[in-house]
Amino acid sequence: MSSTQQVSISLDSNLAERSTLASSLAKDLNLTLSPLDSNTIQLVVTQHTVEIRVPSLGNPIYIDFVEGKNAHRRQFGGGRGQPLAKAIGLKKGANPTVIDVTAGFGRDAFVLANLGCEIILLERNPLIATLLDDALIRAADNTDIGDVITRMSVTNIDAIEYLNNLEERHYPDVIYMDPMYPSREKSALVKKDMRLLHELAGPDTDSEQLLTSARKTALKRVVVKRPKSAPFVGEQKPATSIESKNTRYDIYISP
Ligand SMILES: C[S@@+](CC[C@H](N)C(=O)[O-])C[C@H]1O[C@@H](n2cnc3c(N)ncnc32)[C@H](O)[C@@H]1O
Repeated sequence: MSSTQQVSISLDSNLAERSTLASSLAKDLNLTLSPLDSNTIQLVVTQHTVEIRVPSLGNPIYIDFVEGKNAHRRQFGGGRGQPLAKAIGLKKGANPTVIDVTAGFGRDAFVLANLGCEIILLERNPLIATLLDDALIRAADNTDIGDVITRMSVTNIDAIEYLNNLEERHYPDVIYMDPMYPSREKSALVKKDMRLLHELAGPDTDSEQLLTSARKTALKRVVVKRPKSAPFVGEQKPATSIESKNTRYDIYISP
């Protein structure tokens, strides 16, 4: 999280097990356990969710793979024909192993797991990683997507460090990255959850280094998601790109 953010953790439930969870998260994340306070940024353990409450953003933010946008995209997103799937190389029957090195809210990773990929999600912001863990735990018991969730695992780590220390036998077929683009921050149209990422994590200023590490590690390809008119990360020219309405997927084929 950005060094300017003061975040505490709070409890909004009477259940003893939720209180235990709040205490253990406070310890793991080195956060002060405080009373609910609507004027500060808090990670809040409620009866059903672990969520982030940011005064300037209104409603609490948590990740939900079972309902809402993720469920909609799972049902109506276009399957293997959608641009993300094509960029990853999901031809008929191919289910490459993937590392998503910029997991964020795990939406893209969920799409790929739903289409059959085993996917490791790396997220360096500890609060976002906590939301992801919580969402996976809640979704694991769901009869429709429980099997999809078994293909997803989250690690709270900086991906550059992770990739640079990865043993060759664990190299994935594909590395996917969707770094936060600095100019998104200024747009009035930026969605609330992306604003949360900006509030907590700030823009990703080391994407070039991340792409360099990814290209040394991916066995088949690296895919970088960009706003359509954005320059290539680090001016590294991809082999090809796939475009959708507002998005471009730059594809770097491994040698
Ligand atoms: C734009 S968001 C990704 C959104 C994601 N694709 C989704 O579908 O929800 C970028 C995320 O990548 C994380 N990130 C950026 N660079 C990273 C790195 N080197 N290691 C791990 N996480 C990183 C940021 O903290 C942020 O949460």
